[in-house]
Amino acid sequence: MSWDAKQYQRRHSYVFEYGQAVLDLLAPQSGETILDLGCGSGQLTAAIASAGASVIGLDSSSAMLAEARANFPAIDFRFGDAAEFALDHPVDAVFSNATLHWVKNSDAAVHCIARALKPGGRFVAEFGGHGNIQPVVDALHAVLGPVESPWYYPTIGEYTTIIERYGLETREAWLIDRPTKVEGEDGMEDWLGVFARDFVRDLEPAQRKSAFRSVAERLRPTKFRDGVWTVDYRRLRIVAHKTGARKP
Ligand SMILES: C[S@@+](CC[C@H](N)C(=O)[O-])C[C@H]1O[C@@H](n2cnc3c(N)ncnc32)[C@H](O)[C@@H]1O
Repeated sequence: MSWDAKQYQRRHSYVFEYGQAVLDLLAPQSGETILDLGCGSGQLTAAIASAGASVIGLDSSSAMLAEARANFPAIDFRFGDAAEFALDHPVDAVFSNATLHWVKNSDAAVHCIARALKPGGRFVAEFGGHGNIQPVVDALHAVLGPVESPWYYPTIGEYTTIIERYGLETREAWLIDRPTKVEGEDGMEDWLGVFARDFVRDLEPAQRKSAFRSVAERLRPTKFRDGVWTVDYRRLRIVAHKTGARKP
């Protein structure tokens, strides 16, 4: 899908701010090489670099990559798809925040991730887990009917089964409720305009606006209070290591 990279940074910076907890799990070390998969506008990629690691940011959105390169010109940002990429040299870790729920071909993505890791290397990721933003999904379908969702929100069991198929060993996994505040009367419509564009891609611009307004109105009674919307994020967080015993 296409991204409004400026609006993402302006009003939805909580995505990479919350990513700090995932960075702590990654614990990047000086001298390591690390891939940031779905790097977006590059803030977490830069945080990995500032720990002294050599980092590559990979993303499939030209708009996000343009922002990332403008923000952090010294970092190696590359265009690529999480379900199709290959690196010239294997890395010590693959890190990914708020991206893998956009990658429905999860087998292909995990295959690429496992192939990109050195034996013993680690995969540390957080993304939307089972039940993520369910009220928003329900409201979108109530307004738009049975349109295909761009999102894939697996359970721990589903994703760790895939991980283990490709020679990665799950060390830790969590499904975490994290209600997230989005400020302002127009906050929900803005959120939908940044993250839910695929739902309305076949509509005319005026129809898109009114569809998102209807979705927000459905959510308002339960999700808007004192000028703040609550979006019921639910995150799947995973730490896995490449065992070295099996080649993907
Ligand atoms: C919500 S943003 C998160 C960006 C960044 N990781 C952060 O924490 O700010 C999701 C990112 O995933 C990227 N993305 C979605 N599908 C992708 C795919 N198949 N391959 C690579 N990147 C993808 C999008 O382009 C976008 O930059």
